[in-house]
Amino acid sequence: MTEQPQEQSPEGQAAAYAAMVEQSRNTATVAPYAISDDLRPTIDELDLWENVAELRDQGYTVIKDVAPPELFDQLREVIHTLAEESAMKGKGASMLLGRDPVVDQVATLPKVLAIAEASIGQGMRASQFVGSILHKGDGHLNLHADANWLPAPFPEHNCVLTFCMPCEGMTDEGGTTRVVPGSNSLRRHITQEEMENSEHVPIEVEKGSVAVWDGAVWHSGGIRTIPGTRTVLHATYQRMYVQPIDDYTYLLEDEEYVKNASEELLGLIGAGLFYGTATLDHGVDLQKFFSSTIKAKK
Ligand SMILES: [Fe+2]
Repeated sequence: MTEQPQEQSPEGQAAAYAAMVEQSRNTATVAPYAISDDLRPTIDELDLWENVAELRDQGYTVIKDVAPPELFDQLREVIHTLAEESAMKGKGASMLLGRDPVVDQVATLPKVLAIAEASIGQGMRASQFVGSILHKGDGHLNLHADANWLPAPFPEHNCVLTFCMPCEGMTDEGGTTRVVPGSNSLRRHITQEEMENSEHVPIEVEKGSVAVWDGAVWHSGGIRTIPGTRTVLHATYQRMYVQPIDDYTYLLEDEEYVKNASEELLGLIGAGLFYGTATLDHGVDLQKFFSSTIKAKK
């Protein structure tokens, strides 16, 4: 049996709060794609330095072996089942966090969280979790940057990060995502002329691995030209201060869900944030405010 955390005394709580205020004052901002001292051991342990460099320089990377292939079989089953029940009639399903434990597990895989933190910082939020299913002939080219609701120039610190988690792997003929390598360095939206003339390359991914790209890089879905399906979980994460696409705060009202959710998952759906915590009786939750100010800089 695990030991229950001891209730802190009022003096202990006051000391912890004072230490956090002090830490907030002394925390310097980490440069774009620089790795905080907090994250460095995890990047070392998971061997992700090459991925961090590729994401910074090319705007995308493939993270190998994020989970056993069997987990992707389960994810495929979940997406196909939810897609059948959805209004998208077998083509896809939306708002997937909290709908099945497999999705939540994939959302918090250690390599996924580590790369997300490297790109969009501590305190990152889940923005959009969508499943899609491509059949032969499906898909179209439409180059864009995922930071599509941000004005250009985009901030130097990346704000939006998308993981493409293919349940069967992804090949060029299978309709994989295509990308214009290095276009992230321009930190702006693509022009009409560039949409027609930019060279793009397919991101091929083996089953068990995932593709991920920066919100500034120009990319497009591909076109499937072979039989079978391409089943993908599109998992978008974002920097703390950016408005999420999906609103998962309803999950925080579900006591059973909260009791069973990991700290990481609760963070992704916004449990620790100070936004909206003020009431007519008091200002924002200062505990949450100061802890957010620390995370925002790392
Ligand atoms: Fe996109």
